[in-house]
Amino acid sequence: MFSNKTPLIIGSDHAAYPLKEDIKAYLKEDGMVVEDVGTRGEDSVDYPDFAIKVATAISSGKFERGILLCGTGIGMSMVANKFPNVRAALCMDLYAAIMSRRHNNSNILVLGGRVTGVGLALEIVTVWLETPFDGGRHQLRIDKFNNLGKMFPHMK
Ligand code: RB5
Repeated sequence: MFSNKTPLIIGSDHAAYPLKEDIKAYLKEDGMVVEDVGTRGEDSVDYPDFAIKVATAISSGKFERGILLCGTGIGMSMVANKFPNVRAALCMDLYAAIMSRRHNNSNILVLGGRVTGVGLALEIVTVWLETPFDGGRHQLRIDKFNNLGKMFPHMK
């Protein structure tokens, strides 16, 4: 099914644990390699701990693509986008997921486990994995914000 078999790293908090498990099962069914950094159940945990694990792996280049989930997806997005080279996109529909790849070269897909149902979430994951980056003028736009720390030292 998936033409893009790049290994993925995935993490969630308790609020999206069931959706994380559904997504993992869906990906593994197709032979995808998925590293799960937790959480491992529905006991309350802190979303930044899992965002930091996934974002570190993407920022360092250890993984090319990752998925993060929390209740709304907002907290995970906020944390992940503080990391250099991370472009985390909170997607609640297929159009956003496709365009986050085509125009923003998103490397972390963020989903809200209390917002998006499993059926739509699996479709979002599919288009997000399968849609390539358009490059060109969109790369130039990414270059404009990729190294803000160099231009604005207070942002380091
Ligand atoms: C947990 O209750 C909730 O705050 C968290 O999952 C997330 O939605 C944060 O942005």
